[in-house]
Amino acid sequence: MSNPQSYIDSNIETFKKELFDLLKIPSVSTDSERKGDVRKAADFLVEQLKNIGLDKVTLHETPGHPIITAEKAPHDDRPTVLIYGHYDVQPSDPDELWDTPPFEPTVKNGRVYARGASDDKGQAYTHVKAIESYMKTGTELPVNVKFILEGEEEIGSPNLVPFIKKHKDLLACDMVLISDTAMYGEDQPSITYGLRGLAYMEIHVTGPNRDLHSGVYGGAVENPANVLCEIIAQLKDSDGVIQIDGFYDDVVPLTEEMRGSARKLPFDEEAYKKELNLKAVHGEKGYTTHERASARPTLDVNGLWSGYQGEGAKTVLPAKAGAKVSMRLVPDQHPDKIAELFKKHVESIAPDTVTVEVEAHHGGHPVVIDLDYYGLKAAAKAFGDIYDKEVLFSREGGSIPIVADFKKVLGVNSILMGFGQTKDALHSPNESFSLKDFHRGIKTSARFFEVLPDFVE
Ligand code: BES
Ligand code: MN
Ligand code: MN
Repeated sequence: MSNPQSYIDSNIETFKKELFDLLKIPSVSTDSERKGDVRKAADFLVEQLKNIGLDKVTLHETPGHPIITAEKAPHDDRPTVLIYGHYDVQPSDPDELWDTPPFEPTVKNGRVYARGASDDKGQAYTHVKAIESYMKTGTELPVNVKFILEGEEEIGSPNLVPFIKKHKDLLACDMVLISDTAMYGEDQPSITYGLRGLAYMEIHVTGPNRDLHSGVYGGAVENPANVLCEIIAQLKDSDGVIQIDGFYDDVVPLTEEMRGSARKLPFDEEAYKKELNLKAVHGEKGYTTHERASARPTLDVNGLWSGYQGEGAKTVLPAKAGAKVSMRLVPDQHPDKIAELFKKHVESIAPDTVTVEVEAHHGGHPVVIDLDYYGLKAAAKAFGDIYDKEVLFSREGGSIPIVADFKKVLGVNSILMGFGQTKDALHSPNESFSLKDFHRGIKTSARFFEVLPDFVE
């Protein structure tokens, strides 16, 4: 009987076809019309986990989308790895910007194009196939494994935190393994040891009781769109420093040591500009582009609306304006505290000619994982073996809020072993995932379970 690694090599074409079947399911968690599709994706994974022979495969209902758990835990004296992933995806819009339909996976130049290809179906599925490679070859799993797969990551995991609090025994483990991040470059294995947190806000400015003629009333009636722009413009100064009172109070400053090791990462600013068609990079004074995008807090408008958006000109003074604004957070900023500070600040600078309301959406805590953690060393060994290249460690700017909760509730570190690339276009049109990395990802995961026992301290 073959070993796990050769089983993976022999079956990779089947694995790809299965992944494409999963990618065909439009499991958009934020869209209530897709609720049935989100469930279809969950059912697909339940079938898979059962077929590969895992125990206790369970679909747990929640007030939102289901959570799936499963396990194979034969050893009393070996570590237990909890594999986390999400089967929900972001909306595909604007659909007209996709070269091929978002839910018809299409292979081009060694990449599969589809919504969720990289975030996170393709990456999460690597671990399912890695475990299969042990089960189907009759190879004893070197460690205990458990799965937790959710369908609400892209909407802030509202039901996952209560779930892990309630099921601490079911989820008891020594570490969490997650593939839902990007590598530092092509063919460059890398482990993410920090993620930013998030505070997501919405501002509503309301003025007169209806849209007005901007000639008849303009100049005498406050314009909500103007007010909103003034408020937003005051949130940062010209050095990119956020002006909210108390915003930086809990930020752990970057040490010279951290800055030094980050500077050793092969960051090519010219290539970065070129890829995004930027005239220049931009950000907080005194920090590098990589630091700005990973280890410093930010504030960005994510959506903005008011007034006439149609063809030509309409002379109107809009009655309402609104914006969605998010802040990425770093240790030890607290999302609830930052949301409160934001609300207070915006209310304090709002003129009394209009009504300004500020509301908080979901948030998440930032995390940084200790580089001495043995799980990271084992992951680096496995990653390096399969990619045949030295592994880099970096902090990333995105957020996976549940990582902080795994630490708080289950007391364990997460290993962020991402197989994506920045060019995967997560959340954008034409999302894709390298099929070579899908293959190497499965092999890396299988190798990780093999080497982990050697690293246990
Ligand atoms: N997988 C991403 C997060 C990510 C991507 C981290 C790339 C590091 C590198 C995840 O699915 C995601 O999109 N998270 C959201 C947060 C959530 C609360 C909606 C994000 O970062 O905006
Ligand atoms: Mn993701
Ligand atoms: Mn995402």
